[in-house]
Amino acid sequence: MPSVFIKTYGCQMNERDSEAVAAQLVAKGYTIAASEKTADVVLLNTCSVRDNAEQKALMKMENLAGNFRKRRPDVVLGFMGCMAQSRGQELIDKLPDVDLVLGTQKFHRAAEYLDELLAGRQKKIVDVAEEQGSEGTIKEHLLNGTAKSAVTAFVSIMQGCNQYCTFCIVPHTRGEERSRTIPDIVAECRELVSRGVKEITLLGQIVTSYGKRGWSPSFSLSEHPQTPDTLKRGLQLSPFVQLIEAVHEIDGLERIRFTSPHPKGYGDDLVAAYARLPKLCESAHLPVQSGSDRVLKLMHRGYTRERFLEIIRKLRAAKPDIGLTTDIIVGFPGETEEDFEQTLSLAREAEFDNAFLFKYSPRRDTPAAAMPDQLAEDVIEARHARLLEVINEIGARRYRKLVGERVQILVEGPSRNNDARMTGRTRCGRIVVFDGNARHRGELMDVKIERAGLFTLYGDPAVVNL
Ligand code: 5AD
Repeated sequence: MPSVFIKTYGCQMNERDSEAVAAQLVAKGYTIAASEKTADVVLLNTCSVRDNAEQKALMKMENLAGNFRKRRPDVVLGFMGCMAQSRGQELIDKLPDVDLVLGTQKFHRAAEYLDELLAGRQKKIVDVAEEQGSEGTIKEHLLNGTAKSAVTAFVSIMQGCNQYCTFCIVPHTRGEERSRTIPDIVAECRELVSRGVKEITLLGQIVTSYGKRGWSPSFSLSEHPQTPDTLKRGLQLSPFVQLIEAVHEIDGLERIRFTSPHPKGYGDDLVAAYARLPKLCESAHLPVQSGSDRVLKLMHRGYTRERFLEIIRKLRAAKPDIGLTTDIIVGFPGETEEDFEQTLSLAREAEFDNAFLFKYSPRRDTPAAAMPDQLAEDVIEARHARLLEVINEIGARRYRKLVGERVQILVEGPSRNNDARMTGRTRCGRIVVFDGNARHRGELMDVKIERAGLFTLYGDPAVVNL
């Protein structure tokens, strides 16, 4: 049977899509190649969020199409995911060695199209059309053979985004918001737990909008009555919190996480869920993008700096030790020194555990790309360096505070950098490396933190687990 190698660029959603495509291909008899060198099919699952990410995938494909293709003329080369969606046929015009361009609503067609191409029935396939119900097709998992197998899993709960932030290409690459139904998602989670998964991360481009629009045609709220508990409390719960509650009821599941929420939809019911639901880990990735109200408005984010800080205060009131991370864009068009200083001060005030910093990158068809006052690269570079210093300093301080503390980790497997050691995550989402044994994989374990590196903790389980 043909073997396939999938290289993934970008976010966790992309990782998840690649996994689902791989699992679908395996179910059809394909094997997963250990490297592109031996594969019959090489697919690049692409990211469009910044130009940088697109260039990386384009360069990779150029390399594959060059020497590699000459040595192995029968190999099938394909782009899938976000850049495939936004560029379509243009990719084959530019790189004629590409055989397949598979959009974000067509992942489940990969096997069918590869069969056609491998059998020579078709020479090129480009499919970037919309497909109703495609949000429900990312459900297969590869739980064996990979390093992280069977302890943690990602579950895709929705596709698309209707927020239309002015910098962001995602509404163009992922389409309108469409949510899977609660019973469908719960069934997938149950299956994962029955196969040994202990921690599930619910994924979507904007999970706080889950179920607010674009339900699958078969869905109605009455299909999944609110839990009796909820009725007793008489709370009006958003569909997303209803989903968390339903997943929370699965026996054997230990931990729930989700990403990414949007501050605009971060209601009090979600804050309260942290206090109420013990499996919901006290960590939150809440993208702020900027600390300046003026820039937030230009970005079309739908909240102010003060509202963002209020959410954080409420989360910390509910869970004082919550681990908070964020995304920040540096150098949005028109960002002044004053605006940037507002971002620096917000970073200090919010005390994030970590932040992903992005240098603004103009994306086609987005309003921000046409805004006046695009910033020079060196200005963006300098601000990025200043902000990084602040983020690292605060992060290091927050990590150091944990030295000497006892924390619970879920052991995921061998450490990425050192096979002889094991790694796990605290409930707050911090990585802990320790001298352990592979048999601890999948266990919840208490460790004592001995030392803190930059965004990594080193623990000693022997102290508490004799
Ligand atoms: N330029 C730079 N960063 C961007 N992001 C999204 N669009 C852009 C862009 N045009 C960042 C945001 C988002 C993260 C996934 O990528 O911070 O939260």
